[in-house]
Amino acid sequence: MNAFQISTRLNQVGFSDIVTIRNRVMELRAAGKPVFEFQGGEPFMPSPEPVKEAMIKALREDKTRYAPSSGIAELRVAIAEKLKVKNHINAPDTDIIVTNGGTQALFVAFQTLLNLRDEVLLFSPYWTPIADMVRACEAVPVYVSTAEARADGFLQTLEKHLTPHTKLVYFNTPNNPTGDIFTRDEAEAVAAFAVKNNLLVIADEAYEDLIYDVAEHFSIASLPEMYERTISIYTFSKSYSMTGYRIGYAVAPEAFMSGLQRLTLYSTNGVSTATQYAALAALQLPPSYLAESRQAYLERRNLLVGSLNELGFACPMPRGAFYAFPDVSRINTDSRQAFQILLDRAQVACVAGNIFGTHGESHVRMSYSLPLETIEQGLESLRKNFT
Ligand SMILES: Cc1ncc(COP(=O)(O)O)c(C=O)c1O
Repeated sequence: MNAFQISTRLNQVGFSDIVTIRNRVMELRAAGKPVFEFQGGEPFMPSPEPVKEAMIKALREDKTRYAPSSGIAELRVAIAEKLKVKNHINAPDTDIIVTNGGTQALFVAFQTLLNLRDEVLLFSPYWTPIADMVRACEAVPVYVSTAEARADGFLQTLEKHLTPHTKLVYFNTPNNPTGDIFTRDEAEAVAAFAVKNNLLVIADEAYEDLIYDVAEHFSIASLPEMYERTISIYTFSKSYSMTGYRIGYAVAPEAFMSGLQRLTLYSTNGVSTATQYAALAALQLPPSYLAESRQAYLERRNLLVGSLNELGFACPMPRGAFYAFPDVSRINTDSRQAFQILLDRAQVACVAGNIFGTHGESHVRMSYSLPLETIEQGLESLRKNFT
């Protein structure tokens, strides 16, 4: 055995393909070429002024010492209220843990629940880091085609993948990369399957506030018999343009919370204290803040998706997040080739769909979280080069 080898636990854990894309874009930029950057995954707006002010104020007031590793009391109380009103999840503040973004919440959630060789059902296309987080637990991701579940029924499709090793379902709505949302009926079908087979659920609701054409985001943990088997994950990153602050949270029943708390304690010992005051200010923003940012995304979505369809890149209208997931098979059915061609010919950067699983093949992910003029310029370049 080679003592200098890192843990075999990490053998199957990949590193983000998106980094490769970013490097390629940087090369083009360095060569003086314009690149229309649709590949990103974060809000285009700056974070709200009251959020920045709250963080500065916390620093000025010397709120710079260790905070409780599960989060400051004021923030957990405000989150509990938000969960009650918006998500219809009635949880005591002791069932809430503040984390370094949704990413840490997801990582500690999988680590808390999974044992060696446990299987995790993932609706696919899926957010790529999830499979790596599952593998980091020496557990096994099992891919369930969302399109197939829609066509053949959720229960029937999920049952096809059920084995004695199945432990949990990862349920992400709104979805990265497709921008799709699961309806209440679909969430009910997944919940019925989980209850029937005694499975757990990790609900990733990172994009809960970015929804269009629907009245309300629906949280699976709000269904009967679901709270006790679900860890629900949220973040300030997307709702409040706070990706760089690194703050999110998980809500889970006491039985799971003890695992989440230990893993958070020993990995980060909590979130930077001043950042938690910034998050508290975000929750105190008037509802008009979210309504206005939703309107800004809606306008961008309509522009991008409408034009992609006109250009012959079939794309269903996504009802959430800030991604479009057009079919690019008219350029190339291999999405990595299509990505390359789009970049070389039109300087349009996006993410190849098969990075999000084989069910994403023939598609690319394009973010519309961009200034309107960048979207227009990118579309013009597509028009010039592909019509
Ligand atoms: C589906 C999904 N979940 C969770 C996250 C985590 O975001 P953060 O760690 O910034 O909270 C992301 C970020 O891109 C995401 O796309």
